[in-house]
Amino acid sequence: MKTDEKAAQDKKVRLENRFSANRGHISVNQVLISYGENSDRNVAVEETSVEIKPQEFVCLLGPSGCGKSTLLNAIAGFVQPTQGRVSIDDILVDGPGPDRGMVFQQYSLLPWKTIFENIALGPRLSNDIEASKTAENFLDMVGLAKYRNHYPAELSGGMQQRVGIARALATYPSVLLMDEPFGALDAQTRLVMQESLLNVWSKFGTTVVFVTHDVDEAVFLADRVLIMSASPGRVVADLRNPLPRPRSQNMSTRDDFNELKQQCLGIIREESMRTFELQNE
Ligand SMILES: Nc1ncnc2c1ncn2[C@@H]1O[C@H](COP(=O)(O)OP(=O)(O)OP(=O)(O)O)[C@@H](O)[C@H]1O
Ligand SMILES: [Mg+2]
Repeated sequence: MKTDEKAAQDKKVRLENRFSANRGHISVNQVLISYGENSDRNVAVEETSVEIKPQEFVCLLGPSGCGKSTLLNAIAGFVQPTQGRVSIDDILVDGPGPDRGMVFQQYSLLPWKTIFENIALGPRLSNDIEASKTAENFLDMVGLAKYRNHYPAELSGGMQQRVGIARALATYPSVLLMDEPFGALDAQTRLVMQESLLNVWSKFGTTVVFVTHDVDEAVFLADRVLIMSASPGRVVADLRNPLPRPRSQNMSTRDDFNELKQQCLGIIREESMRTFELQNE
């Protein structure tokens, strides 16, 4: 098959996969990512492999600069691996696509469009013939139907991030990628947002990769916690979370919550110390 035809076929399969139940299997296979060339070459992610099952909620922790965003961006298709391959449902990721929704730390909504228009844009661009209805549904799901005609600047940070989540989900992605989405929110709003995200995810059932610095947040949200080593990072720990679902914030006093939290903190402390030592060499 010619390259163009193969790419068109892959795109078609990728779009169809979004609606099948067993969608969103992420495979990161011996991926190494470096920036720059020759003497400026900087390895951001050391060779690493990870398999994430459909509909799994995975949190990615690790010291600052270890390559969490870079790895997430490789899954999103914004960054191409220098070696290895990333695939979703067995189709190579070679650029961004509507099967992957992204939520960033900064709310990144279009300030000149209303909340409704921000959410409807993705479905319209992906030729959803019911784009308006889709946008209404997702606005409802994040509890902001009343604000449909407001502009982003008229909403609080937490509300804007709920719009960001609705916008990312409105193209029915099989994978939702979140890079410290609640990092700019105050502690109280953050807890509410975590519960709200789990609530939406339980209805929607997409695979989630969620980058955070906050160990409590990772343990509260995840099915699995992945921890990256100091820069250049690779996945050094893959911890299954025994905490049952549905989750509520009062679970943070449970023994199993604290055990996993202490285990994560121990590994991160060790890795952070290593970063500090490397920087002082
Ligand atoms: N676009 C880029 N060009 C060159 N180097 C980059 C680029 N993006 C990231 N890097 C480098 O890659 C390494 C990993 O950065 P990355 O942003 O992925 O880390 P991170 O774990 O997300 O950090 P943080 O927790 O602070 O967000 C760092 O050394 C960074 O300087
Ligand atoms: Mg980052």
